[in-house]
Amino acid sequence: MEKKWWKESVVYQIYPRSFKDSNGDGVGDLNGITEKLDYLAKLGIDVIWLSPVYRSPNDDNGYDISDYRAIMDDFGTMSDFDRLLDEAHRRGIRIVMDLVVNHTSDEHPWFVESRKSEDNPYRDFYIWRPARNGRPPNNWGSCFSGSAWEYDARTDMYYLHLFSKKQPDLNWDNPEVREEVFDMMNWWLDKGADGFRMDVISLISKDPDFPDGVPGINGYASFTEPANGPHVHEYLQEMRKKVLDGRDTLTVGECSGVTLEEAKKYARSDGRELNMVFQFEHMDVDADGSNKWSDKKMDLRELKKIMTKWQKGLDTVAWNSLFWENHDQPRSVSRFGDDGRYRETSAKMLATCLHMMQGTPYIYQGEELGMTNVPFCDISDFRDLDSINAYYELTGRGIFTKEQMLRFLRYKSRDNARTPFQWNSEENAGFTTGEPWIMVNPNYTEINAEEQMKRETSVFCYYQKLIRLRKQHEIIVYGSYDLLLPEDKELFVYTRALGTEKLLVICNFYGNTRCFELPEEWDSRKTKILIANYSDAAVEKTITVRPYEALVLQNRP
Ligand code: GLC
Repeated sequence: MEKKWWKESVVYQIYPRSFKDSNGDGVGDLNGITEKLDYLAKLGIDVIWLSPVYRSPNDDNGYDISDYRAIMDDFGTMSDFDRLLDEAHRRGIRIVMDLVVNHTSDEHPWFVESRKSEDNPYRDFYIWRPARNGRPPNNWGSCFSGSAWEYDARTDMYYLHLFSKKQPDLNWDNPEVREEVFDMMNWWLDKGADGFRMDVISLISKDPDFPDGVPGINGYASFTEPANGPHVHEYLQEMRKKVLDGRDTLTVGECSGVTLEEAKKYARSDGRELNMVFQFEHMDVDADGSNKWSDKKMDLRELKKIMTKWQKGLDTVAWNSLFWENHDQPRSVSRFGDDGRYRETSAKMLATCLHMMQGTPYIYQGEELGMTNVPFCDISDFRDLDSINAYYELTGRGIFTKEQMLRFLRYKSRDNARTPFQWNSEENAGFTTGEPWIMVNPNYTEINAEEQMKRETSVFCYYQKLIRLRKQHEIIVYGSYDLLLPEDKELFVYTRALGTEKLLVICNFYGNTRCFELPEEWDSRKTKILIANYSDAAVEKTITVRPYEALVLQNRP
């Protein structure tokens, strides 16, 4: 397998609005991030993925961009950005930008022009269609509730927005759009940025017939209906030639609706498109069919099946990215672990299970502390338009009661990941001296970076160790993967192999104590523990696996 720095790296995602506020306005900013680079260096990460920092009216917290070459006022200035990039590079940390080009803001000058008239030179930068029998052109739904089409009286037509109506979709079939995007990407790379995380890049090419899709619980087809459209690979290959070829970048595509076969095209190791993709199948293990709003608990066998399918399916052909969390998902310890009695143990177990797989691991800010979901009380506590819209749409139509919907939001809302980073036990968790833009999780007095950095048994120190191990053992990066005990409902056990070396990863996802028989070929006397989340873990022929225990065994041939 070809060796690459981006395969050996650990990426840390920063959601700037919630990371660190340096000027007391209650919103995180670029100088706040620069202030905390030493923290990240201490954790040991190699790359920062910066969620959008561009000028934006913030309908979707920066994922609606009105100027791709300017910094959002809330976050600072371009010289703050240059300083951040410089200071990161000085510490050997690369910065990957968030490239949001499936859509712009409706306040972007291109859209302001586009909507003026049918013969405006920018008309064809977006996707305009006439009504179909007095109704929207098809049944596609927006990711954030309602139709994906918005009627615009000025020209008596609808424009497509797979996200909010303030996020009109760009028309990638127009070569001028592609040139503008490629130019802008080159501009950021020339500045020194180290690559891109590409927002919903699987959605950029739409079927020109705009066929109806299968309706979900709100009556609309999923926003992922256009995923992997007819020209997406062609456009990414063009991007490779016009932007990425000859540059040493990290590229990861957020590929909603991607299948294994499609992922092999996006991230094939021949390097014609992207380095890797984010797939989302494992984020649906606790969905209720196609409906994410539920509080169903996952079946571990299902999770193992999905992870294994991707581990085996991409091995030697393409490359996986590994994640439990990002700014669109709830906290993993609350979702897949136990955020009560076993919070620290289960956070470490989840980290072990993920970081020992083949692929590039992504850590979302606060995951390294075992930050939890948030006890939101009322719909007025939420800031995320996805959560707020879904609440009103689904309760308004009588599909769920308000109590049900609040329960689902507490479990699944994106705002769970967006409350301020918990730096210390001072007011507002040390995030801001002002009024934070969203509530602080009240558990910051107990869960915070300052306390964990001082304590060797903390989740933070465990992450440090996992990251260090990856640098010391090639097998963690490049070894092949095999699942054991596929039908076990509580244990996730797998092996990694590289040459004569082997690892055995044993993770208990539940609170029961279990027995695990070492496989035949493992001699307990020639086996050592590489890392474990219980300090007194021991290797025997039969291993007692305690609640949420995780152990990684290494053979000593
Ligand atoms: C991606 C982002 C999400 C955003 C959406 C629209 O899924 O991760 O936060 O709302 O795209 O840009």
